[in-house]
Amino acid sequence: MGELSSTIRGMVRQGKGILAADESLPTIAKRFSPFGIDSTEETRRKYRALLFSSPGIEEFISGVILFEETLTQKDDEGRLLPELLSSKGIVPGIKVDKGTVSLAGSPGDKITEGLDGLAGRLEKYKSQGARFAKWREVYVIGEKNPSMLAIEANAEVLARYAVICQEAGIVPVVEPEVLMDGDHGIERCSVVTESVLHAVFQALRRHGAMLECMVLKPSMVLPGKAFGSRASPEEVAEATVRVLRRTVPAAVPSINFLSGGQGPEEATANLNAMNAILTNPPWALSFSYGRALQRTALEAWGGKSENAGPMQEAFMKRARLNGLARRGQYRPEME
Ligand code: 13P
Repeated sequence: MGELSSTIRGMVRQGKGILAADESLPTIAKRFSPFGIDSTEETRRKYRALLFSSPGIEEFISGVILFEETLTQKDDEGRLLPELLSSKGIVPGIKVDKGTVSLAGSPGDKITEGLDGLAGRLEKYKSQGARFAKWREVYVIGEKNPSMLAIEANAEVLARYAVICQEAGIVPVVEPEVLMDGDHGIERCSVVTESVLHAVFQALRRHGAMLECMVLKPSMVLPGKAFGSRASPEEVAEATVRVLRRTVPAAVPSINFLSGGQGPEEATANLNAMNAILTNPPWALSFSYGRALQRTALEAWGGKSENAGPMQEAFMKRARLNGLARRGQYRPEME
């Protein structure tokens, strides 16, 4: 418990959030490709070493989620990347799920694999410097999805993962992601997210998880990407906070949203609106963004070493603005 609490204290800081840099090999290739960057072990090392050595990163980033390969990669000075982060007071974390497959018996739904051997892997990751872990379950919104079976089965897996982590002295980041794909409205997303989170916390309770020693990483309540119009930050904030209030116990120290395909400015404005409308929230409301923190940096870099400076500046701009959104102090004019 002492070890978990001290990790949580490092991760949950006013004005700071988590950088998700844990893209798997196929995913990072997909992120690099629009900018003409080849995904090789060396380009991935270079890119992540640059990101993590951005001057001042520790002012706005309290934790970074890494992919397994990154745990053993070094910066240009020969320092292991998890050590580089720790030396700045940033907590290194590790993605431990092995991705999704179709959920048998429930057409259109998914389930995440990777529980087998997890305790053993955690021991190794911990010896390599990881102090928290991340596991993502995915929910598709469709006419018949997610089914009750999918909601229950995914919650069960998240809870098993969380307790295995806590027994290993690793803080679990519990990520139930309701996808933005589809033409549904914000109301439907709200109903689905509420059922999903309700089931997740019931399962966490059943398995005896310590709610004080976890971080929830949910998706925001949003209209589907193919819905006719986007919702305003105030609408997103109101719908999301209502669902969180109904489902997330006050014992949970922090809720760090994923960006899930929102644009960088949209993700910042939505987080800001939540912090602006909530007075005395029981939990911290922060970010754990992947794309919304990295897209502009990747664009500025383009895989070229002469663009290292502009790349770090682009990343730091998003980190700083999201740090302000964490306090409810962001304004669109700051863009
Ligand atoms: P996005 O912010 O790009 O959705 O990534 C966050 C993440 O960790 C997904 O698992």
